[in-house]
Amino acid sequence: MRSLEQVLKDGIRDIPDYPQAGVIFKDITPLLADNSGFAQVVEALAATGTDDDGRPVVDKVVGIEARGFILAAPVALALGAGFVPVRKKGKLPAATYEESYALEYGEATIEVHQDAFAPGDRVLIIDDVLATGGTIEACLRLIRRFEAEVHGTTVLLELSFLPGRERLSGEQLTALVTV
Ligand code: PRP
Repeated sequence: MRSLEQVLKDGIRDIPDYPQAGVIFKDITPLLADNSGFAQVVEALAATGTDDDGRPVVDKVVGIEARGFILAAPVALALGAGFVPVRKKGKLPAATYEESYALEYGEATIEVHQDAFAPGDRVLIIDDVLATGGTIEACLRLIRRFEAEVHGTTVLLELSFLPGRERLSGEQLTALVTV
């Protein structure tokens, strides 16, 4: 079996100048197409929602639209937990809470259903990439509106040249790989 490090190396490719000149986009589609690699990654992400004996300790796994959904849903199943989508504004049909955060130019808003968590739920947040940290910070603000407890946040990839980790200081944050 390949190491997790090798799987991530094989499965995440750099796409220069996407979505705009000067940006190097981290494309995870090769990883998703690699059945055994994807399974290894889901297992590693799910391990962050367990105790030292490997027993699941979370009730809900949050996935952030859109690539976060792809990773968080199988992690929820692996942990025997429910899946909660955090979506971009206007996509969720029932009553929502919303939080906005700054982008390089302008603002983005994410939402969650108001009945997404029960009191006492332990929550694991999963996303593909931590860049500036704005998305996950807004997601944490959303979850704080509930009587739920954030167990931690886990990302596939952390971009360490951006201040995401500093911004989320005080939170339990795990990255499978840091570049
Ligand atoms: C990307 C990525 C994270 C976020 C990280 O999402 O999937 O959610 O940006 O950036 P930040 O740390 O600077 O907030 P994007 O909005 O591109 O959505 P997508 O998954 O729908 O492509």
